[in-house]
Amino acid sequence: MLELHALHKTWHPPKGAPRSLLRGVDLVVQPSETVAILGASGSGKSTLLRIVAGLEPMDAGRVCFGGQDLRDCPPERRRFALMFQDFALFPHLSVQDNVAFGLVEQGVGRAQARSQARELLQRFGLDAAATGRTAHLSGGEQQRVALARALITQPRVLLLDEPFSALDAELKASLRDEFRQRIADQQIATVLVTHDENEARAMGARCLRLSGGVLLPA
Ligand SMILES: Nc1ncnc2c1ncn2[C@@H]1O[C@H](COP(=O)(O)OP(=O)(O)O)[C@@H](O)[C@H]1O
Ligand SMILES: [Mg+2]
Repeated sequence: MLELHALHKTWHPPKGAPRSLLRGVDLVVQPSETVAILGASGSGKSTLLRIVAGLEPMDAGRVCFGGQDLRDCPPERRRFALMFQDFALFPHLSVQDNVAFGLVEQGVGRAQARSQARELLQRFGLDAAATGRTAHLSGGEQQRVALARALITQPRVLLLDEPFSALDAELKASLRDEFRQRIADQQIATVLVTHDENEARAMGARCLRLSGGVLLPA
């Protein structure tokens, strides 16, 4: 399970006074549990996810997985996947190479990585698009490619930062059901950041609110 203990983080803007964003964040996420973090814009939700992913230092606290303190574990060795709202697919790579990327990074041969990517894309109903560019896909398709890319390495933790906010309402609803099912299939500890409480409930999430730098029941 994922455990956060007393995370603290102060943001020091280039100008103006420092802002204390996290003031003792504690959280336990069980395998196959989804926790949603709600909170106002600017409250520090994305900062929290980046800290968990190891992409940003914290001032104090501990991030642990399976009882192991990840202090000295770089992001690429955590086996945590982070997915952003704006897809962040690589425009110069084909759809299948976007999905295969994480495997290639892990040292899997390109042919093997591609074949696994094709298999996953097929399950996502995207095999027809596999060799094309990501720019030719709709917003919903791009977001599904981003999820496939996140899941292919079988991460231990999935961090979703407003994954549906760039999509229209109807697509949002169908995609969120699909995501919920796929996440359940892989039994991953998932942290979902969203400003939409209905969406969080529909994802079957335990809802918390980041407010005043701590997590409270929502
Ligand atoms: N690396 C950074 N660059 C610019 N602003 C940052 C950075 N880290 C934190 N901040 C500031 O910290 C606050 C919280 O940001 P963020 O974590 O993105 O909040 P949220 O995701 O809840 O909207 C914002 O005011 C933001 O400007
Ligand atoms: Mg954010």
